[in-house]
Amino acid sequence: MSDFLTIAGMPRQELLRLIAATRKNVPIAEGRSPNRTTLSGRVIANLFFEDSTRTRCSFETAVHRLGGQVFNLTPSGSSISKGESLVDTARNIECMGVAAIVVRCAVSGGAKMVADGVKCPVINAGDGRHEHPTQAILDVSTLMEEFGSVEGRTVAIVGDITNSRVARSVTHALSTLGSHVRLVGPPTLVSKSFERITQGPGTVSTISNLDSALDGVDAVMMLRVQFERAAGGAVSSDYRQMFGLTPQRIAKLAPHVIILHPGPMNRGIEIDDRVADDPQRSRILRQVTHGVAARMAVLEMVLLETTSEKSPVTNSNSPAEHRIGV
Ligand code: NCD
Repeated sequence: MSDFLTIAGMPRQELLRLIAATRKNVPIAEGRSPNRTTLSGRVIANLFFEDSTRTRCSFETAVHRLGGQVFNLTPSGSSISKGESLVDTARNIECMGVAAIVVRCAVSGGAKMVADGVKCPVINAGDGRHEHPTQAILDVSTLMEEFGSVEGRTVAIVGDITNSRVARSVTHALSTLGSHVRLVGPPTLVSKSFERITQGPGTVSTISNLDSALDGVDAVMMLRVQFERAAGGAVSSDYRQMFGLTPQRIAKLAPHVIILHPGPMNRGIEIDDRVADDPQRSRILRQVTHGVAARMAVLEMVLLETTSEKSPVTNSNSPAEHRIGV
């Protein structure tokens, strides 16, 4: 029994094992193979203090595919709107006998706060600007389906890097697995501190010119500007021209290069319609299927690989907001 809070500090073997489990789950996630019953009799709580479409629905679907039951709690319609805290809410939900809590919140380090406050396992579904570890698993799984291995591959991640929990988690994962990560965007949205994320043989660099950054890449991951995290001020009217993935830009890419986006997309800002919907290159909807498969793998790891005591799978020093660093 353990928490799943971060990719930072996660050993390579552990990461590869989760990704392998994810890939095996894909036929079930597609509805082509029969569901399992490994979570039969268990109830999972989805505590979503921030909006979500893909993450919340894929956790729900993953629980169903594993034969468990799941309920959702969101601020509207619950006592969260009356000011009840994250941890108080989680403690009350735990007393209803849930097997695990999946939490998304706006506070960086919030998933660790919840994990410290309850005895059941906690899965981080995105905490502020900190981490989104299941997103990293699904992203790498999608890349590995394409390329076999990500070792030696170059991935450009483009957009609002500083405010992105997706960028942080996936950079940790890719660098652990030996990829070369180029973080691209306006200097105000690309913190140099990300260059210190070098968990393994991979490399991490920051660059502010998209056209140079795309030279020689194998995959491009586009990110949304996190307007809800006050990033909007850093975006000028020429954002699309400078950092948008347009048909003109993808026309210059090698034929094998694929496009990813965690969603939700802001079409016409970071990505044009013809790129998002490009049947040859876009793997954006494929990521969603891998999302169900990844959440199945994480739920099984957290709930079935039991020890008597709760022990974090990943870095237990998951930082609070003021100590996020990289
Ligand atoms: C991302 C998130 O919430 O961090 N979306 C997701 O989980 N698929 C990215 C975003 O909101 O921009």
